[in-house]
Amino acid sequence: MHRRTPIHLRRAGTSVIIDLATPGYPSILHWGEDLGDLSDLQLEHLAVASEPQRVSGGLDTPARLTILPLESHGWQNEPGLIGSRRGLAFSPTFGPVDVHMLPSDAGLVLEAVDEVAALKISSSLTLDSAGLLHQKHTLTNLGDSAYDLQHLLATFPLPSSARELLDTTGRHLRERFPQRHAFTTGRHVRDSRRGRPGADATLFLAAGTPGFAFERGLVHALHLAWSGSQRISAERSVAGHALLQAGELLSAGELSLAPGESYTTPDAIGSWGDGLTALSSRFHESIRARENHPTLPRPVTLNTWEAVYFDLDVDRLRRLADAGARVGIERFVLDDGWFRGRRDDTAGLGDWYVDEQVWPQGLGPIIDHVTGLGMQFGLWVEPEMVNADSDLARAHPDWILQSEAGLPLESRQQQVLDLSNPAVFDYLLERLDAILTEYDVAYLKWDHNRDLLEAGSPITGRVAVHENVVALYRLLDEIRRMHPGVEIESCASGGARVDLGILEHTDRIWTSDCIDPIERLTIQKYTNIVIPYELMGAHVSGPHSHSTGRRHELTLRAGVALPGHFGIEWDISRLDDAGLDAVAAWVDAHKRIRELAHTGRSVHADLPDSSADLRGLVSQGGERALFVYTQVTTSTSYPPEALTFPGLDDERSYRVSLAEPTARLDGPGQSPLSWAEQPITLSGRALRTRGIQAPVLFPEHLVLIDFTAI
Ligand code: DGJ
Repeated sequence: MHRRTPIHLRRAGTSVIIDLATPGYPSILHWGEDLGDLSDLQLEHLAVASEPQRVSGGLDTPARLTILPLESHGWQNEPGLIGSRRGLAFSPTFGPVDVHMLPSDAGLVLEAVDEVAALKISSSLTLDSAGLLHQKHTLTNLGDSAYDLQHLLATFPLPSSARELLDTTGRHLRERFPQRHAFTTGRHVRDSRRGRPGADATLFLAAGTPGFAFERGLVHALHLAWSGSQRISAERSVAGHALLQAGELLSAGELSLAPGESYTTPDAIGSWGDGLTALSSRFHESIRARENHPTLPRPVTLNTWEAVYFDLDVDRLRRLADAGARVGIERFVLDDGWFRGRRDDTAGLGDWYVDEQVWPQGLGPIIDHVTGLGMQFGLWVEPEMVNADSDLARAHPDWILQSEAGLPLESRQQQVLDLSNPAVFDYLLERLDAILTEYDVAYLKWDHNRDLLEAGSPITGRVAVHENVVALYRLLDEIRRMHPGVEIESCASGGARVDLGILEHTDRIWTSDCIDPIERLTIQKYTNIVIPYELMGAHVSGPHSHSTGRRHELTLRAGVALPGHFGIEWDISRLDDAGLDAVAAWVDAHKRIRELAHTGRSVHADLPDSSADLRGLVSQGGERALFVYTQVTTSTSYPPEALTFPGLDDERSYRVSLAEPTARLDGPGQSPLSWAEQPITLSGRALRTRGIQAPVLFPEHLVLIDFTAI
């Protein structure tokens, strides 16, 4: 019997084998470890080896897990495509499948038509240079009636060893905390119906061998590069299938394809690894290979929000800028409150004109002051939003997303504009362009402070979440095209819009409104599984956390923020000289390590004692590393146990020392720690396996440990 030879994609230590002859639609036979150079015969035999047997009580042709599993081929779990023509054409079946290889065999595009349902599907599978697997589908309506699309999902198979799930959940001020459970029969579904991913969204859904961790265990994960409503799920069936699925979550009637119209899914991105660190490295490498990835050092930022909130007194801001320049700040960002009618968060959104009462001479004087001190100037905006109490809302009530019954419930006293309305788009583009043209603004902090509800466009009457995300991406691109040097931060009530879709159009995310370093340890650790540090805003707050009420030493606050896109969000103009010197020392420390943090590998140790946290930055060549060791709560043993360091080069010898500004241990009075007193040299292998004595630290204290290869 002759069958089509499966296609073998191989890159960056990853193999993906695609069987074109699977009944129904092509399937992925293998996604994971590089299987080496396989002959055609071996590939064909792999396909044969994957064929299931018919079983009692089942279908005569057992269902197969394809990249578009459909009921027409026996799939009785979540189908990849659901839609109909007012109830008809409800069960598509596509074939035969045409295959087009992409240049350099980096992937392929599959195309097939269903003549009866009058639909065409086109699917692309790409293995990028970092070994990430990208999947997208495009559905085209070939018929002469509308096709109502309910969902179109990307489907990735999992190995049978995947028995435990990990994803993230959270809320405002506590985004991306991990949750784990057994991967049993059934579906684990993470839906976001918020019109943005939301604070509770999962950044990824991972499935692996029980107990998988950062350093060990085969694990696969899926991320959806999309900034609107979305679904990510994992499913295990009694027929032995295990899979990850992801796609946009559409509302009733939201996406109706007119004759000839197409819909393309967001990019669903799969990674795998032996441990989460390996899985996450693929994301980082792929993101860093993007053409638009920032290459200049990330400017140390001073953001005015937690420093002054709405108290935008110009003299006070000048003093803050002076203090910023004194400690080494490179970018000063004026947050919320500068525009017409904005004295607090109840009014003004939408009126993007400088408030003449607060700034009689416009923003020029403060910008000149900031740039005169050698810093860039950044400005906060929240273009998609509007307050009822604004000139814009009064003039254009029909520019606001709403249902036929009227406006949705308010959130932070605000509503959302319908960016899919060209008049709204043009107004925002004109306003933003005018500001960026008039002023020397190097950076926009682009906020989005509410979930969407009943997000209907007054123009069509239909839900327009999808259209709004598409329009947002277009608006961001247009601004970047018109003002090429301007960088944009994606902020959304802190970290409620963190995804690789928005990062295609912006330059960093604001990770969370919570800057409490203890909370940030977890938030940053799990955000970092997908997002590299250079794209992750990490600021040092004042001693007293505004979101948790806790107090922390500068060392902890700054040490936790150190690897990220570092900044200060604190009224440092009130500090005395010694206080400013201490802050300046941390700004210096960040400047010394930012290249390492923003180009190196990020590793997280799996410590047996959960009272501590150890995370590291290792240069790509292994010549240098910096680890941040935090005693989070009191240690179980006293002194704590040995620390072992992942990610170093086994074959190199490293000089190990405490790094400034933590070179002096502030422990509760024990004898000196030998290796900290007298520098030692150990091999990467010994450091990974035997390790070194952990320092005794008070809880909520940290030290930096430096490794320099000799
Ligand atoms: C929410 C953001 O996350 C904060 O940093 C700040 O910019 C406020 N919005 C301003 O309203």
